[in-house]
Amino acid sequence: MNKLILGTVQFGLNYGINNEKGKPQKAKVFEILNHAYRNEISLLDTADAYGNAVDLIGDFHRETGQLFDIITKFKIDKDEEINLTEKIGSSLKRLGVDSFWGYLYHSFDDYKNHPEARKQLITARENGKVKHIGVSIYNNNDLLLAAEDKHIDIIQLPYNLLDNDKQRGDLIAIAKANNKIIHTRSAFLQGLFFKDTNTFPEKLSPLVSEVENIKELTKHHNLDIATLALKYATTNHNIDNVLIGVDSPEQLATNIQAVSSKKLSAELIRKIDAIAVSDIALLNPSNWS
Ligand SMILES: NC(=O)c1ccc[n+]([C@@H]2O[C@H](COP(=O)([O-])OP(=O)(O)OC[C@H]3O[C@@H](n4cnc5c(N)ncnc54)[C@H](OP(=O)(O)O)[C@@H]3O)[C@@H](O)[C@H]2O)c1
Repeated sequence: MNKLILGTVQFGLNYGINNEKGKPQKAKVFEILNHAYRNEISLLDTADAYGNAVDLIGDFHRETGQLFDIITKFKIDKDEEINLTEKIGSSLKRLGVDSFWGYLYHSFDDYKNHPEARKQLITARENGKVKHIGVSIYNNNDLLLAAEDKHIDIIQLPYNLLDNDKQRGDLIAIAKANNKIIHTRSAFLQGLFFKDTNTFPEKLSPLVSEVENIKELTKHHNLDIATLALKYATTNHNIDNVLIGVDSPEQLATNIQAVSSKKLSAELIRKIDAIAVSDIALLNPSNWS
């Protein structure tokens, strides 16, 4: 089984700091999904908020008969009368599957503010429509709250070469000790690690020296950035699965190969663990604009 989870926001929205081509066409999305399926990536991460990504996955399931396990994320609209049985039923139908492997609160505010949703989620888990209940989080306060919630099975959080062990390693260990399934995203910080630092927008200039530091490490250890980023996340024993986003089958092939390349040395991991970004707000892409 492959430790990678394929993210799908890239299929439904123009996404990423380094994305010049926009979202891929349906045929390209099918090529990516076929490649993932052949390489034993069994989980896809999607969300109601990802444009037509859900419908593309549903089309793939119906047209090829190759079924992925699906993690999706839901949002609760203001004043919405919550009926998760209905929401889950209609999402499953669009996706062409019988149950969700993971059903996650997309927003931590929804998780905190809607205790009535929680009861419905637990019922859905008991009925077998949802295998695991989870929450997507951004910061360490939320990580700790989710880690201590006995009803939560999956926590999805950012983790990468900059948003690293120094920033949240201890809390991930606590969550793992509480038997949470840990899924990390942002392995490439939305593509920022591939971007020439000379082209960083002004707002991201405080990250230039750290990204250059990482690029120096890749040169020194004769690695490419995809390999360093993916090996760093996938070899962390507290992390169960690592989500990645790709815009092409070629990127996916590169990334799959990177994961199976040789181990990073303990010395290199220590150097990455020691990177301490000072302006931590910049580790969250929603603060970039
Ligand atoms: N709150 C949430 O729950 C949340 C938020 C964000 C994302 N997600 C999920 O996480 C998934 C991954 O998103 P992310 O933000 O974590 O992205 P990421 O994996 O950190 O970065 C993805 C981007 O990196 C670039 N890339 C990937 N492989 C590459 C390669 N081999 N060579 C060069 N460039 C490469 C591509 O961008 P370009 O080629 O366009 O530069 C790609 O779109 C999403 O699809 C989504 O499912 C969840």
